[in-house]
Amino acid sequence: PVIRIGVVSIFPEYLEPMRMALLGKAIDRGILALDTYDLRDWTHDVHRAVDDSPYGGGPGMVMKPTVWGPCLDEVCPDDALLVVPTPAGVPFTQATAQQWSRESHIVFACGRYEGIDQRVFDDAAKRVRVQEVSLGDFVLIGGEVAVMAMVEATVRLIDGVLGNKNSHQQDSFSNGLLEGPSYTRPPTWRGLDVPPVLLGGDHAKQDRWRTEQSLARTRERRPDLLPPDLLPPPDTDDTAS
Ligand code: ADE
Repeated sequence: PVIRIGVVSIFPEYLEPMRMALLGKAIDRGILALDTYDLRDWTHDVHRAVDDSPYGGGPGMVMKPTVWGPCLDEVCPDDALLVVPTPAGVPFTQATAQQWSRESHIVFACGRYEGIDQRVFDDAAKRVRVQEVSLGDFVLIGGEVAVMAMVEATVRLIDGVLGNKNSHQQDSFSNGLLEGPSYTRPPTWRGLDVPPVLLGGDHAKQDRWRTEQSLARTRERRPDLLPPDLLPPPDTDDTAS
């Protein structure tokens, strides 16, 4: 395969949707190899315990290093990138997806409960690259849904995965801006017209229009993405108390 992705979870069935649709096709075409592992296969006790109470007290449970350590020794070779999805990680962005799309093997370690004993990653970092990464500023129940999002964002950038070879080169974020609106037939629907510029044949004019739409949408929804010179001037209103 072009890329091998391993995912360790206590709910490996959660990850099965990754074998559908476009990712499933990438598997069928031999581009993607997806290995899912049940963390409980590395437990040593009759209860198959993966967690324990936290040192120093506090709510919730922490996942045990004595289970995660032997698991990662086995499923994460030295040349793989080890990714730990966690709301305490560095933000995952389109740039992260672009970097990861050039890796040959990524292993994701999904935590549940309050997290995984930090020594698991301190120990793994002695031999592999480890990245703790967050999907966004919200808290999920576990890492599985974050992994699915990160894997989709990454794998779709690999050549041969998307039908149209160039379709990801015009995505939102690929030029640092949000993508503007799209339209298809019919030209009038429920009294709403497709913007007339798109019905004409002036492609240069259409490109300019799309850039304007893209800028307007980004200014409105994500001003944080724009360089200061493309933002409206700061509010100088001094009439407030
Ligand atoms: N696990 C729980 N919440 C998460 C988040 N926001 N990003 C990545 N992994 C998570």
